[in-house]
Amino acid sequence: MLETFIFVVLPYLSIAIALFVTPYRYFSSKLDWSAFSTQFLERKTLYWGSVPWHYGVVLILVGHIIGFLFPSTVSAALSGISAIVALESIALALGLLTLVGSIILLIRRASGIIRAVTGYADWILLFLILLQATTGVYMGIFVRWGMEWYLYTAVPWLYSLLTLNPQIGYVVGLPFVFKLHVIGAFLILAVLPFTKLVHILFFPLSYIRDPPILYRWVTRIKGK
Ligand code: HEM
Repeated sequence: MLETFIFVVLPYLSIAIALFVTPYRYFSSKLDWSAFSTQFLERKTLYWGSVPWHYGVVLILVGHIIGFLFPSTVSAALSGISAIVALESIALALGLLTLVGSIILLIRRASGIIRAVTGYADWILLFLILLQATTGVYMGIFVRWGMEWYLYTAVPWLYSLLTLNPQIGYVVGLPFVFKLHVIGAFLILAVLPFTKLVHILFFPLSYIRDPPILYRWVTRIKGK
């Protein structure tokens, strides 16, 4: 019952929320379709949190997607133990970058002036990305070799969801931490339209032509 909820109900519910609420938000309140910048309030910690987090998570997600789209190519690439160890080490380094970045971003939100401009949605999102990075890195270290077993378990299950013929047999036997990772992934998808994460769907191509924005303080804040 719980397995059906995690591997069937939650994914479809999250996909439905993301598919229907996202366009609704876009057309009903286009102006808040962005990640509100707090960079002008605090930028040093933001740099040390945001840069590693973005580099880590984007490359990790590209890895997840490549494994999903080209399972047989990835399987062939992982045919020798040295290739597995090398690629798993790179993934682990990127996972740790994501984890450290999310911890720094969370600490930044909890302190000083940034706390005052942090809403429930920001907290929920930050805790979810921390959960995602923690469970991912945990698997990278303790449930070896994720890159390999992902191809024969998670990938066919995800395909079965896409073809509307869910086959949870591929994943029910996987460890609890994998289930937490899946719950985290689909909760992130479900909260996407309600949080600043929605900015990942917006490609500000016109910015390339726009002049850069210059912030100027009218009164200088101490220590900035
Ligand atoms: C249903 C969707 C997902 C599945 C089935 C999945 C599966 C996995 C697996 C099996 C690993 C272990 C890889 C290894 O041992 O090298 C992993 C690692 C990881 N995942 Fe996911 N993942 C999903 C979604 C996500 C999402 C949405 C994020 C981020 C927002 C994410 C972030 C990570 C991170 C940071 C790691 C750590 C990489 C490492 O240290 O090796 N995952 N994931």
